[in-house]
Amino acid sequence: MIRKLYVKQFRIFDEKTVYLFPGINIILGKNGTGKTSLLEAVYFMNFSKSFKAPRDDDMVQRGKDYFQIYTEWEQAEYHRASGNFLRNKGKRFIFDGETLTKISDVVGSFPMVFQSPEDYRVTSGPGAERRIYFDRIISQVSRKYLQDMMQYRKVLKNRNAYLKQLCESKKHRYTRQLEIYDIQLIPLIRRITTMREKVIGLFNRHLKILYGEIFNDAGVGKIRYKPSVQIAENSDTEQIRKEQSEKQVEKEIALKRTLWGPNYDQYVFYRNDVPLIHYASQGEHKIWMTLLKLAEGEIIRSREKAEPVFLFDDLFAELDVGNSRRIVENIMTKKQALITTTDLNDLRRHGVKTGEKDIHIIEIP
Ligand SMILES: Nc1ncnc2c1ncn2[C@@H]1O[C@H](COP(=O)(O)OP(=O)(O)OP(=O)(O)O)[C@@H](O)[C@H]1O
Ligand SMILES: [Mg+2]
Repeated sequence: MIRKLYVKQFRIFDEKTVYLFPGINIILGKNGTGKTSLLEAVYFMNFSKSFKAPRDDDMVQRGKDYFQIYTEWEQAEYHRASGNFLRNKGKRFIFDGETLTKISDVVGSFPMVFQSPEDYRVTSGPGAERRIYFDRIISQVSRKYLQDMMQYRKVLKNRNAYLKQLCESKKHRYTRQLEIYDIQLIPLIRRITTMREKVIGLFNRHLKILYGEIFNDAGVGKIRYKPSVQIAENSDTEQIRKEQSEKQVEKEIALKRTLWGPNYDQYVFYRNDVPLIHYASQGEHKIWMTLLKLAEGEIIRSREKAEPVFLFDDLFAELDVGNSRRIVENIMTKKQALITTTDLNDLRRHGVKTGEKDIHIIEIP
C-alpha cells in the first residue's frame, strides 16, 4: 500500500506531499485542484506512463522542463521509488536505490487497479480500446507477456514496412523474407493468445462471483475472447503460416499491412448474454466496468500474492445510490483505496461512512 506521494513540477503542482493510510483515502477538492493529477502520478509509477496524456511532456508543469514523482509504499517490505521525466531527455525510474534500465521492469512493480470516467471507452468504444485495456492488465501481472508484446510489435512493424516496400516495387507475392517474419511471429502469437485466453477465463470466474455477491443477481457479466488466429499448443507452425499468411499475402501487400494476429483479436462484453455495447445504459456500462475493475483486483491479488491499491477517480458518476452502496461495501473490504471527490456529502449519500476510522480525508486546497 502506498504511504507517501511527493510530486514536483507535475501538472498544477509546484510541489506537493501527500501521506496516505490503510483503508479508504478520500482526496477531496474543488474542480481543477489536481485530484486526478495525483492519481495520475501514482499510476505513472506502475505503468511508466499516464492514463490520459499521450505524451509524458504534457505532465510537466507548464513553463518547466522536468517533473519528479517520489513514492513510498509497503508490500512485504517498505519500498521507495522515484520517477523523473526531463523534456528532450526522457524518463528514469529508481526503485530502492537502483536505476531500472528497462521499462518492462517498472510495469507491475507496484500493483494497482485504476478506474476513471475515461473507462467508458473500454466498454463502449472500438475493439482497440479493449485490447489496450487487457494488454495493460496482463502486462502488469506477467512480465513475459509484456516482453512478448513488445517483441511482437517490433516484428510486426518491420513486416508492415516490408509489405509497403513490396507494394511499392510491385512484387505481389509471398517471399522468403515474409516467411522469416512469420516464423518469428507465430510462436509469439501463440503465447500471447494463450495468455489472453487464460486471463479472460479468470475474469469470467471472478465476474460471476462479483455479480452474485454485489447484485445478488442471477445476471452474469461475461467476456468472450475471439482470437483472430487460433494456435493450439501442438499445432503446426508451417500450416498456420500457409493458412494465415500465404493465403492473404496479395491483399496484405496491396494494403501494406498485416491482416492477422493479436491486433485483430476481439473481446466482447456481455450482460445476461446480451452484448453490452449495443444495449446497456450508461449506468449499466459503469456497473459492468466497476465489476471488471474489482475482478482485476482479484486477479492481481492471486497472482502477486499482494492486494493492489485501488484508485477510483469519480467513482460514483452515473451510479444510483443503491448500486453505489453495494459497490462501496465491497471497496470497504480492500486494504487501500484512493477515491477522489468534490463533495463529501455526495460520498456519504453513496454509502461512504466518512466518520469511520478507516476513512481518511485528504483535502487539496
Ligand atoms: N502541464 C500542466 N501544467 C500546469 N497545469 C496543468 C497542467 N496540466 C493540467 N494542468 C491543470 O491542472 C489542474 C488540475 O487538473 P486535474 O484534472 O487534476 O483536476 P481535478 O481536481 O481532478 O478536477 P475535477 O474535479 O474537475 O476532476 C487543471 O486546472 C489543469 O488545467
Ligand atoms: Mg478530476
